[in-house]
Amino acid sequence: MKKKKILVTGGTGYIGSHTVVELQNAGYEVVIVDNLSNSNADVLEGITKITGTRPFFEKIDCNDLTALTALFKKHRHIDGIIHFAASKAVGESVQKPLLYYRNNLVSLMNLLELMPQFDVSGIVFSSSCTVYGEPDENPIDENAPIKPATSPYGNTKQINEEIIRDYVHSGAPIKSIILRYFNPIGAHSSAEIGELPIGVPQNLVPYITQTGIKVRKQLSVFGDDYDTPDGSCIRDFINVVDLAKAHVIAVERMLKNKTEEAVEIFNLGTGVGVSVLELIHVFEKVSGEKLNYKIVGRREGDIEKIWANPDKANNVLGWKAEESIEDTMESAWKWQLKLREKGIM
Ligand code: NAD
Ligand code: WQD
Repeated sequence: MKKKKILVTGGTGYIGSHTVVELQNAGYEVVIVDNLSNSNADVLEGITKITGTRPFFEKIDCNDLTALTALFKKHRHIDGIIHFAASKAVGESVQKPLLYYRNNLVSLMNLLELMPQFDVSGIVFSSSCTVYGEPDENPIDENAPIKPATSPYGNTKQINEEIIRDYVHSGAPIKSIILRYFNPIGAHSSAEIGELPIGVPQNLVPYITQTGIKVRKQLSVFGDDYDTPDGSCIRDFINVVDLAKAHVIAVERMLKNKTEEAVEIFNLGTGVGVSVLELIHVFEKVSGEKLNYKIVGRREGDIEKIWANPDKANNVLGWKAEESIEDTMESAWKWQLKLREKGIM
C-alpha cells in the first residue's frame, strides 16, 4: 500500500523532529519544511539514524507563498499537514511583536490558503497552554476560558486558533486538530535528537542540564513565595516523545475521517503538576549531579500553577502520557551529555 504523505513544517525543530521520527516509525512518508531559523539541518542525520529513513527536506520559509506553492506542486498528494513552524520565544516576542505576528500568522494563513487548492484536507496545529493564562482552577480542561494573552507570542497562538475556526466556519473544505501542549521536555531515548536552544536558554530544563554540565554557572529559580506547597511554580512537564506520539494519532484520526467536529481541541499534558524545585531534585537524583541553584525574585508574567486535565485526549484520542518524570529528565541529561561528547556544548 502506498505510504501516506505528511508535510511537517518546523520539522527540524525540537518537537517537530521527534514527531517526524514517530511518523516514520508508524509508516508515513514525511516532507519537512523548515527555514532553519531556529534549528539545524544536522537534525536530519539524527532522524535518519533512529528510523533508517531520511525524510525529504525543503529549506523554505512558510511566509513565502510562492515557494510553498511550488512545494505543493513538487510533492503532489500531500495527505495531511502538521504545522509546528513558528517563533516561540516569549521575551523576544515582546521586543519584536511584528516579527512574531508576521511569522506566526502569515505562515498559517499561507498553508490554509493552499490546502483546498492541493486537496489537502487536514491540518494539526501546535497551540499552547499559554492560551489559558493563569487558570482559575487546576487541572484545566479544554472548556476553560481563554484569558487575554500576556505576550505577543501567546496572542499569536490565540489568533491562530481563531483563524482556523473562522476559516472552517466559512465552509473551507478542511478540518483541523488543535493541540494545546503543556511544557514539553526531554529528548529521544537514543540521544540522537533533542532540544538545542540557541544562546541562553529561556526554558527551565535546558537551563538545568546546561547548569548540570557547567555551561552555565548557576540556575536562578524564579520565586519560592508562590501559593504552592514548596513556594515554587508548578507546571505539567510532558515528555516530548509522548507528545510526538499524540501527533501521529491526531493525523490518523484526520486521515481516517474519525473526527467528530471540523475543529477539535485537545490538551496534551500528563495531568500531574510538578514544581520547579521538585524537578530540580528529580534532575539531581537521575544525574547524580548536585545542581548549583539559587532562589531569586519572581519572573515577570509567570503563571503560578497550571496543569492539564488530559481526559479528553486520553478518552477520545486514546493517547496517554506514559514516560515517568524520572525517565524524562534522564533523557534530557543523556542528550546534554551527548552534546558535550560531540563538542557542541
Ligand atoms: P522550535 O523552534 O524548536 O521549532 C520550530 C521550527 O520552526 C524551527 O526549526 C524553526 O527553524 C522553524 N520555523 C520558524 N519559523 C519558520 C518559518 N516561517 N518557516 C519555516 N520554518 C520556520 O520550537 P518547538 O519547541 O519545536 O515548537 C514547535 C511548535 O510548538 C511551535 O509552534 C511552538 O510555538 C509550539 N509550542 C512549543 C512549546 C514548547 O515549550 N516548546 C509549547 C507549546 C507550543
Ligand atoms: C517553567 C518554570 C519559571 C527558567 C513557556 C512559555 C509558554 C510555553 C512553554 C510555548 C517557571 C521557572 C525557568 C529558569 C526558573 N511555550 N524557571 N528558572 O514559563 O511555563 O512557559 O514555555 O507555548 O508559552 O511561556 O516555561 O520553562 O520558561 O518555565 O525558575 O531559568 O520554571 O519561572 O515557573 P513556562 P519555562
